[in-house]
Amino acid sequence: MKIGKVGLLVFIVLVSSWSSSSAWFGDKHKKERKSILPGETTSSWVLNRAGSSLLFQVHGNVYPVGFYNVTMNIGQPPRPYFLDIDSGSDLTWLQCDAPRVRCSETPHPLYQPSNDLVPCNDPLCASLQPSENYECQHPDQCDYEINYADHYSTIGVLVRDVFILNFTNGIQLKVRMALGCGYDQIFPASSYHPLDGLLGLGRGKTSLISQLSGQGLARNVVGHCLSAQGGGYITFGDVYDSSRLIWTPMISKDHSKHYSAGEAELIFGGKSMGVAGPVTFDSGSSYTYFNSKAYQALISWLKKELSKKSVKEARDDLTVPVCWHGKRPFKRVSEARKYFKPLAISFTRGGKGEAKFEIPPEAYLIISTKGNVCLGILNGSEVGMGDMNLIGDISMLDKMMVFHNEKQLIGWAPANCDRVPKFRDVSI
Ligand SMILES: *[C@@H]1O[C@H](CO)[C@@H](O)[C@H](O)[C@H]1NC(C)=O
Ligand SMILES: *[C@@H]1O[C@H](CO)[C@@H](O)[C@H](O)[C@H]1NC(C)=O
Ligand SMILES: *[C@@H]1O[C@H](CO)[C@@H](O)[C@H](O)[C@H]1NC(C)=O
Repeated sequence: MKIGKVGLLVFIVLVSSWSSSSAWFGDKHKKERKSILPGETTSSWVLNRAGSSLLFQVHGNVYPVGFYNVTMNIGQPPRPYFLDIDSGSDLTWLQCDAPRVRCSETPHPLYQPSNDLVPCNDPLCASLQPSENYECQHPDQCDYEINYADHYSTIGVLVRDVFILNFTNGIQLKVRMALGCGYDQIFPASSYHPLDGLLGLGRGKTSLISQLSGQGLARNVVGHCLSAQGGGYITFGDVYDSSRLIWTPMISKDHSKHYSAGEAELIFGGKSMGVAGPVTFDSGSSYTYFNSKAYQALISWLKKELSKKSVKEARDDLTVPVCWHGKRPFKRVSEARKYFKPLAISFTRGGKGEAKFEIPPEAYLIISTKGNVCLGILNGSEVGMGDMNLIGDISMLDKMMVFHNEKQLIGWAPANCDRVPKFRDVSI
């Protein structure tokens, strides 16, 4: 059973260096806030502020591919690599020949690491270690091990190398940044992905957006728009009209580096099901996971809702744990959506009014290769996620998702992610 992958870091827990101020709409950071010009009109979510921002087209889908990838050109001379996008982790790494121990099949030849090693006492290295008092066995290099939630792992060495970046204003820059040279990977069969590496979109020090903003090349803001038709795009930089998005604060108190939005209420078909526990957004996971209590409530509600309808449980379909068959095989989610009601997650925003994250049937159902309609929300307790609810790619489809690390806000709005925005040639 392929349950898709979860890119959430579980074993490396570090003390967050982000301030725990609950800045709301950046009031506490007014100086840094880029004001939206009054009267500025735009037909898309994106302002025509093309300066310090980057856009990468994304390929892939939730099912059957199970991940989304971007192409980056890295190294001297630069070579292209396909990277899995993961907002649940920070470090960008490539499978490499250092020499290699275990690597999976890759679409491109393995990365040959640069000899510009990041030393062990570098803050970037410190941010990859399980505790602050780590020991440097090799002072001149940074060894790390990352274990992801779906039991795949990577061991590697941190190096600096050149990334060739096309900024949206047409300028191409060679930017030196740290990346992982992963020479020993373990991929369980359930999360096999034939990619060259992983692109960490998290908010920790090592993520590319933190490094780009540290070099003054972009604001520390990440966005993604993943299309239900497959594909989409990701952005680096503050290019969104904040007035057109719904925002809720990130939690930073729990030392979490993840994009977590705190306690939320679950709403099934317009009715509140009570408090759901903490909610985390993770583009590295193709499906959504509810904790045991929320999952149980969802299954019971769906059973009741569907009992009088002409879709029946299909126990012989092992695509995911729960599937239903109709009178005839379904080809598209749109053919099955009439049997299902929308879900929503409502964030309380610390008393500043609710922020509702809508999950229409298209954002929690898939059509299996057998023509059944299947539930793209899985039992997180079964895979060891404890209390957490994890919003995966499926529930973020056709939404502009923005992670504003400077204001510590998570924003979203419905969007047509097939239409890649065009930037006008203006600089800031
Ligand atoms: C990754 O993206 C490229 C296009 O940039 C595409 O050709 C390739 O099929 C994708 N890989 C996977 C495994 O989806
Ligand atoms: C960047 O721009 C160059 C020149 O226009 C182009 O050849 C290249 O494919 C672009 N790279 C990416 C990753 O889009
Ligand atoms: C979810 O997983 C937990 C832990 O494995 C299990 O106890 C529980 O019964 C599962 N819930 C459902 C509805 O399957």
